[in-house]
Amino acid sequence: MKRKLIILTDPGQDQAAAILMILGRPDAFEVLGLVATAGNIHLEHTLDNCLKLMELAGRPDIPVFAGCRQPLMRPLVIADHVHGPTGLDGPDLPKPAIRAQEKHGVDFIVDTIRAHPDAVTICSLSPLTNLAMALRKAPDIAGGIVEVVAMLGAYFEVGNITPSAEFNCYVDPEAADIVLRAGIRTTLLPLDVTHKMLSTPARLDAMRALGNRCGIATAEMLEFSQTFDLGKYGWEGAPLHGPCVPAFMLAPQIFSGRQVNVSVELAGRLTLGMTVADWWQITDLPRNTFWVRDGDAAAYYALLLEALGNLP
Ligand code: RIB
Repeated sequence: MKRKLIILTDPGQDQAAAILMILGRPDAFEVLGLVATAGNIHLEHTLDNCLKLMELAGRPDIPVFAGCRQPLMRPLVIADHVHGPTGLDGPDLPKPAIRAQEKHGVDFIVDTIRAHPDAVTICSLSPLTNLAMALRKAPDIAGGIVEVVAMLGAYFEVGNITPSAEFNCYVDPEAADIVLRAGIRTTLLPLDVTHKMLSTPARLDAMRALGNRCGIATAEMLEFSQTFDLGKYGWEGAPLHGPCVPAFMLAPQIFSGRQVNVSVELAGRLTLGMTVADWWQITDLPRNTFWVRDGDAAAYYALLLEALGNLP
């Protein structure tokens, strides 16, 4: 049965790949809307990028909503050093003709969950600001969300924006804490697994070789954003984070993990935003998260290519 999705996103080239992967699998996903998050870049850019991607994919029908301009409690930290000044540098995508919805993204989340109880999966590629705000505004919706599947956190792979924290959690740790305490079935795809999904030159060539505009644009986006990570890690390819979320929903069998407690550090001078995964179940804290630690990279990229190939 198709999953109804609300996508939370601050694209971000890797997230663009994830969104295109989702749109390339209309047999598996029905996208109810996207909520643009302030994260990789400021909200006006992430909103614009969402609209550009809907047009690139030939899906101007999918509604896009603006979320909050700032994290819940902290000044916004952006990652333009990775993603470029627009957040989606690489291909020259035209200014979008379509416009965002008037309704606020938080209200869209609340209204949609209430309208479709026990039917919607939250597909989060970004900081969790807008889902946390929705849960604060309407605590009743926690019981109506099927699952949260999110790219967030790091434990065995340590941090990427600080030595201890992964970016999506670090930008809004309070939001991550609210969501992880909400009692919603949650799966996290942390750096522990995304750092095993490397976009090697051969894999980027395969995307470009699809020959369609979405395949070529995805290769161009990732060839831009890989520059920082290749210099930082020295690996054969940059980690491709975002598509791990739809890949898990499509083929959970290519991943492995464990149901454990995950708690967020909110006060540490050196560890703010760290996701502490109780992998060996030392505590009796609630096992609130399926923590994905490993995955089959070849199968992952095959899923991505198949989906991209279905697009314009
Ligand atoms: O840490 C990886 C995450 O941070 C990804 O979502 C990437 O787009 C950046 O936002």
